[in-house]
Amino acid sequence: MAIRYAKRLDALPHYEGGMDIARARRAFEATDVVKLASNESPWGPHPAVIERVAALVGEANRYPDQYASELRGRLAARFDRDPAGIAVSNGSCEILLAAALALCEPGDEIVYAWPSFSIYPQLGPFSGAREIRVGLGGPSGYDHDLDAMRAEITAATKLVIVCNPNNPTGSCLPSTDITAFLEQVPSYVTVILDEAYIEMQTLDDPDSTVDLLPRFPNLVLLRTFSKVYGLAGLRCGYALGSARFRAAVDAVRQPFSVNLLAQAAASEALRHGDDVADRVERTIVARVEVESALTELGFTVPESHTNFTWLPLRIGDREYDEAAIVEGLGRAGVIVRPGTPLGGPGHIRVSFGTEAENLRFLAALGDLVKPQ
Ligand SMILES: Cc1ncc(COP(=O)(O)O)c(C=O)c1O
Repeated sequence: MAIRYAKRLDALPHYEGGMDIARARRAFEATDVVKLASNESPWGPHPAVIERVAALVGEANRYPDQYASELRGRLAARFDRDPAGIAVSNGSCEILLAAALALCEPGDEIVYAWPSFSIYPQLGPFSGAREIRVGLGGPSGYDHDLDAMRAEITAATKLVIVCNPNNPTGSCLPSTDITAFLEQVPSYVTVILDEAYIEMQTLDDPDSTVDLLPRFPNLVLLRTFSKVYGLAGLRCGYALGSARFRAAVDAVRQPFSVNLLAQAAASEALRHGDDVADRVERTIVARVEVESALTELGFTVPESHTNFTWLPLRIGDREYDEAAIVEGLGRAGVIVRPGTPLGGPGHIRVSFGTEAENLRFLAALGDLVKPQ
């Protein structure tokens, strides 16, 4: 008889990350490949981070600190919060999955916007909750429609996720809108504000939502070292919330989930605030340059508050085939993310890279769309 796996496996969507460089080399028969598919930082970690990690590898025979005390202490100091309410994790994705498991049971509901981060569709099948997807809105059609999300909250709602700035659309709502929304959400509903790209937005002080935590005990801020800090490969994220939330997510995941090197790297990275500010600056310069070059090519480019652009494949009346553009860019050695699996057919999502990488993308796209 065949081995019987859990039925919920059938409902779990497959998460497909951006194509890695080795796979792209094979798929597109290209040797020199630029990866602009996963919203990573094009710049490696701070030299002091590299040094600290290198010095620690020799201690890898020991388990890491189960409580990640140094890292949680540094985050507590950075945000002026009680470390008891700070959870650190193996990438912020781990907190999302743990939160769904800790909060939801069959019959409960999770509300989130769509298109948004592609891990959210895992959370319903993973926890047994029903998912309620709310379409994006606003003048651009790319913003969270917080009124519509509020209208979907019922007695069964346990978790609402707001991705701000939003992946994949790059849009961002000001913290005044977030505050007005939180004022209307019943206090029994946990709201996770997924702020993976918050450092890169230009609407508000990135810490303005931290000031909301004392007022809204049901609020959780989710952040990551994968983006602006350039540590995606080490996997480290964190949540700022209540001590109860942290205890709940800790209860449903394995101990030691944040490894020795990730804890040290993230702790060290927090000591270099100037470097973070510099990375933000460089990202904004890249954003302006890529957006203006795309506009010159004739595209209408939605405003991005992140390290990527969400590009509708249309110039005037002419629509371009998404698969053909992704394939054509791939053959030119530039990997981008097709919009269809992210919920936005007719788009591509392109991360900003180094100046040279961005120029390669722009030249390759220019060749594909130039009038024959
Ligand atoms: C909106 C959003 N949240 C969370 C994450 C997950 O980041 P990580 O698990 O690397 O911390 C990502 C990664 O792309 C993201 O775009």
